Amino acid sequence: MRTDYNELAKKYDLTRKENIDTINQFLENLSFSERTNILDFGCGTGNFTCALKRITNANVYGVEPADGMRQKAIDKNTDVIFEKGNHEKIPFADNFFDFIYMTDVIHHIPDIDMMFEELNRVLKEGGYLCIITESHKQIESRFWVKYFPTTVEVEKQRYSDIPEIVENATKNGFVFSKIGTTDANHKHSISQDFLILVENKGYSMFHLISNDDYECGLADLRNDYDKQVEIEYSHGETFLWLKKPFKD
Ligand SMILES: C[S@@+](CC[C@H](N)C(=O)[O-])C[C@H]1O[C@@H](n2cnc3c(N)ncnc32)[C@H](O)[C@@H]1O
Repeated sequence: MRTDYNELAKKYDLTRKENIDTINQFLENLSFSERTNILDFGCGTGNFTCALKRITNANVYGVEPADGMRQKAIDKNTDVIFEKGNHEKIPFADNFFDFIYMTDVIHHIPDIDMMFEELNRVLKEGGYLCIITESHKQIESRFWVKYFPTTVEVEKQRYSDIPEIVENATKNGFVFSKIGTTDANHKHSISQDFLILVENKGYSMFHLISNDDYECGLADLRNDYDKQVEIEYSHGETFLWLKKPFKD
């Protein structure tokens, strides 16, 4: 079942915002100027797109298929160009972008081969693509698995694991550059923000498990929230860096 992002758009920004650590990873690895063309692929409501524009003043563009999500992005920053597009068609010329990134998008792509072909077309030679996602191991280590264990299988089915992504990318003209993770140990109680996120089904996976599993997990979560139970776990995201090589 596909996630309806036109429907989710109504509540998306109540529970999701840009992560400054992700932006810092970009800044540590690349240099940006007013002549740099950057694409946020699957930019959603433009949270990362607008933050990157504010911080770098590069030419930042967003491509997003869902009209509801894209309109929220357009309303946030008129200095960023947001276009309708998807893995089949990115409405830009060949070799246009210096850098392309996607946050939390690859698991929604029905044809990863086609996506890499299209991303390769619009990326300049020598340009970088950064995919921010979670490995299967990271999916297993999310703290909310304790409350929603059936999300693990659902998520592993829609998230390609990292070696599979690399294999697809290299088949379509990219070379592997490096992998970074933000894995770290955490210890905290359930925050009110997280409880609100779950109550609003702010992650698409909550639409993919049974209602019984969702309600049961939510009851346990509320219980731990009320008691301020501390949870300990190690978790993070994967930053997969790929490069479009120069032709000989
Ligand atoms: C979890 S949201 C992430 C949005 C944004 N990148 C962020 O981090 O806030 C996933 C996004 O992927 C978009 N998406 C879904 N299918 C896509 C496709 N085939 N091509 C490009 N983007 C797609 C959705 O519309 C949605 O905005």
